[in-house]
Amino acid sequence: MSERRLRVGVAGLGRAFMLTLPSFAADPRVQLVASSDPRAEATARFAAEFGARAHDSVEALCADPEVEVVYIATPHELHAAHVALAAKHGKHVLVEKPMAITEDECDAIIDAVDRARVVLVVGPSHSFDRPITRAREIVASGEWGAVRMIHAQYFTDFVYRVRRPEELDAARGGGVLLSQGAHQIDIVRLLAGGRATSVRAFTGNWDRARPPEGAYAALIAFEGGAFASITYSGYGRFDGDTLCGDISELGARKDPRDYGGARRRLAQVPTPASEAAAKANRGFGGAADAPSLVAAYEHFGFVLVCCDRADVRPTPDGVTIYRDDAVSFEPLPAPRVTREAVIDELWNAVVDGRAPLHDARWGAATVEACLALRTSTREGRDVTLRKQVGVRT
Ligand SMILES: NC(=O)c1ccc[n+]([C@@H]2O[C@H](COP(=O)([O-])OP(=O)(O)OC[C@H]3O[C@@H](n4cnc5c(N)ncnc54)[C@H](O)[C@@H]3O)[C@@H](O)[C@H]2O)c1
Repeated sequence: MSERRLRVGVAGLGRAFMLTLPSFAADPRVQLVASSDPRAEATARFAAEFGARAHDSVEALCADPEVEVVYIATPHELHAAHVALAAKHGKHVLVEKPMAITEDECDAIIDAVDRARVVLVVGPSHSFDRPITRAREIVASGEWGAVRMIHAQYFTDFVYRVRRPEELDAARGGGVLLSQGAHQIDIVRLLAGGRATSVRAFTGNWDRARPPEGAYAALIAFEGGAFASITYSGYGRFDGDTLCGDISELGARKDPRDYGGARRRLAQVPTPASEAAAKANRGFGGAADAPSLVAAYEHFGFVLVCCDRADVRPTPDGVTIYRDDAVSFEPLPAPRVTREAVIDELWNAVVDGRAPLHDARWGAATVEACLALRTSTREGRDVTLRKQVGVRT
């Protein structure tokens, strides 16, 4: 076991932290040393469970000399301010997706981490999932020729999961464009080489009670001529996991009897306050919904990469290659935890000085593309992208 550990302080002990915690807890490279969250029950339980300090603000967390890396898992409209605090105190950063909610905030983050010379990794996003990175290795090897076209689609109940009020406000980053687009756009950017050139999109807001965008379809063009079509609906009817072996986004086996479960649970919390309380209850220190046992890798729905001489399909348990004359399946070893690759990237950057793939410029490029979906829909035109970066290997 390594003596060296990343001393991580956590800002925001909500749902995202709950989902990443099993990977942190299982990894001898990570030590959870401190936290900050306005929910005192969460920081108290964190302190008791990990022998860690509780801070009453993110600034105090960032100032804690024991903290080496700040994992920013606060609501995404706070990410830019919290990255600025971490950088000011010289701390490395793991920031949840989306990196921020505007392009100006992304520029400020790039500037802050550059000036402070700290590492920033944006994640976890589903572009860290091992079947996706294996598919990237396969297509980048060149064995099957150039990547020509990518198709990615996912259908979930995202819109009807219990939410904080900000998550139902597009101006504060609510809706699927940033939350879910960040995953899908990260995936297609990784598979196509990273540098998107333009976006043409249509978005849907089909439920007035849940106003931000809940669906989109878009065509993304890439340098070199590849193009991707991406489709997402969070309106909770057709379940995209049925195209992924009935494995959930988080890698758990799905129970088909839970069909419509998000709507049923939402109906039990009819006011914004009761809904926000239900959401808080899904975070650390709450009573609901610990992550289920892992049965396979995490995923973000159906993905197919068409190359000159083969189609490549990552699935939760491996990668299938459809050649001219035969189909082959490359299984991946079953995961123990699903988010180890995020720790790998952080460790390699902080300890070994290897620049991360999902750095601030990568995160800004993904946010630029997510926001372009809204602009393209509103203005009925192709939107040119200007902040794209390639895949660092
Ligand atoms: N990678 C993933 O799988 C994943 C999953 C869910 C959410 N996310 C991302 O994580 C972020 C948080 O979303 P969530 O669903 O966990 O929300 P959440 O409401 O469950 O958690 C946010 C937490 O931050 C705390 N918080 C609020 N203001 C704070 C402050 N000023 N200082 C410290 N803590 C504060 C809240 O009390 C709450 O515990 C979002 O950016 C979201 O997109 C990522």
